Amino acid sequence: MSKAVPAAATVPADYSLDVAIEAAARAIAAAPRLTALTGAGMSAESGINTFRDPEVGVWRNWLALALFGTPNGWRWTPGWAWSNYRRFHDPIFAAEPNDGHRALAAIGEAMQSSGAGTPTTTASATATSGYPLRVVTQNVDYLHQCGGVPDAFVHEVHGSVFRHRCIAKGHPMEIPQDAPLPASAPKCPQCGSRARPDAVLFTESLPGATWESAERAMRDLGPKDCCLVIGTSGSVYPAASLPGMCGRGVVKIEINADESGYTGGMDIFVKGPSAQCLPRILARVLELKAEE
Ligand code: OAD
Repeated sequence: MSKAVPAAATVPADYSLDVAIEAAARAIAAAPRLTALTGAGMSAESGINTFRDPEVGVWRNWLALALFGTPNGWRWTPGWAWSNYRRFHDPIFAAEPNDGHRALAAIGEAMQSSGAGTPTTTASATATSGYPLRVVTQNVDYLHQCGGVPDAFVHEVHGSVFRHRCIAKGHPMEIPQDAPLPASAPKCPQCGSRARPDAVLFTESLPGATWESAERAMRDLGPKDCCLVIGTSGSVYPAASLPGMCGRGVVKIEINADESGYTGGMDIFVKGPSAQCLPRILARVLELKAEE
């Protein structure tokens, strides 16, 4: 027999999926604002491999991590890095948003149409007025925007594979996005060095303005707001530190196929694939909103 939904927000991992989904939906339906932190698991059902899965993860091969995942790898072996990058990029290029991306965007719309996110008197709330959802994503695949979250509210803290710059000087480079990447890396028209993605590699800093927006999206959350952590192992800093920045009274919810480094610190843990769990949460949020 499944346990009843607890009155307090705490729904640990040993509760049934139904109970966790109900508790998550109730917390989100009552929340004025929601900030989601997403990782590779969010896009798994779009056919994009995660990073640390032992079978298919992008980093299962240490050589790939050293040479394609670092700026020195791109400088020393640009051709090798580019051919690995094409294998990483092309499934992203072909991917469509999954039901989880679409459900998260629809949750934002449902919150907005019921008046959540309306400006209050605080300066920070006014600055982020109108739309109640923020998505801070470590993913470089642009699928949240394709799924319906307005671009202005998606903070891509690890960059994007839909932008490129040159290895030597960082000059922005236009690479057509209507076809798969060319077999060899294009040369920068200004300095002749090769192209690389405008994505954050190991040892590099995060883009400053985007990081500040991401921090603000967490720090601005207050009592009854929700922080939703989806499909990330929490192993890469500083992004992994973001859920720890929200204030007291924020309901922290995790959706993950497995327990992660975050699970113990969450109020509600929804164990399952995000492409299945988020539509179920959305359906229940819509019912609860209709009852208001
Ligand atoms: P990881 O590969 O480290 O973790 C993926 C997480 O998704 C794991 O916790 C899985 O249990 C979970 N997961 C897998 N399939 C899922 C599904 N269908 N639904 C829900 N959860 C699922 O990926 P990230 O945490 O995103 O950085 O990795 C963080 C950063 O490490 C990446 O942004 C990347 C990488 O190095 C850069 O490239 C800078």
